[in-house]
Amino acid sequence: MYDSDIYNAIDTAIGNKSDIVFVSYSILDETDEKIRYTLQKIMEEYNREDWITPVYSAVRELISNGLKANAKRILIDEGVIKDTDPVHEIVRKLRTVLNERAVLEYGIKKKKKSLSTRVYFLFSPEGLIIKVINNLPLSENELKKIHDRIKISSKYDNIAEFFMDYPDPAAEGMGLGLCMVLTLLKSIDIDHNNFTFTTDGVEKTCAEMRISLN
Ligand SMILES: Nc1ncnc2c1ncn2[C@@H]1O[C@H](COP(=O)(O)OP(=O)(O)O)[C@@H](O)[C@H]1O
Ligand SMILES: [Mg+2]
Repeated sequence: MYDSDIYNAIDTAIGNKSDIVFVSYSILDETDEKIRYTLQKIMEEYNREDWITPVYSAVRELISNGLKANAKRILIDEGVIKDTDPVHEIVRKLRTVLNERAVLEYGIKKKKKSLSTRVYFLFSPEGLIIKVINNLPLSENELKKIHDRIKISSKYDNIAEFFMDYPDPAAEGMGLGLCMVLTLLKSIDIDHNNFTFTTDGVEKTCAEMRISLN
């Protein structure tokens, strides 16, 4: 399929309010541009151009989390990361595969192992639902940690405030990214209850944003 066909297909899908899905294997792939285009078209339709950037930034962060979780799984399978590694060691090893060249290599490995991150744009009567799904489950413990982080982050209006309380988010394992997602949504008046994280415990983790448009 040519790119122009893809953009036409996106326009048609938005016109018909049909579901749209993008599949991503690495943060450098060409789906980014299409995701931004899709968001732009949808927001233009609702005269919400000012929402394009905050929502796109949130989606990108969630995609990168999904891709990172998948990359981490590969590193564990390859024995590069061990269960006994301290958190900072895991973060360091993950960083080495997230540099540009390695991202491509690991993107390819992920494709082989069918580890993907999918972005869904779903139209509902209330507005837009965006789901970012990566095909690995979360343990109960991991899910709880994420829920705790979301709860803490929801109290902040911007990441700078969060930084004051948690000056070293990586070391604290606090998660600057999720805080950014929440504050971005807050900045466009989307309450934190419209952002949820779920797992089926078997084969997927889903981050969902509900964006009311009318
Ligand atoms: N899709 C996901 N699958 C598994 N774990 C995730 C996912 N999204 C987030 N997490 C967990 O939540 C943590 C916090 O995410 P985030 O705030 O974006 O911080 P960071 O990406 O810097 O680690 C991650 O470190 C990871 O442990
Ligand atoms: Mg992140």
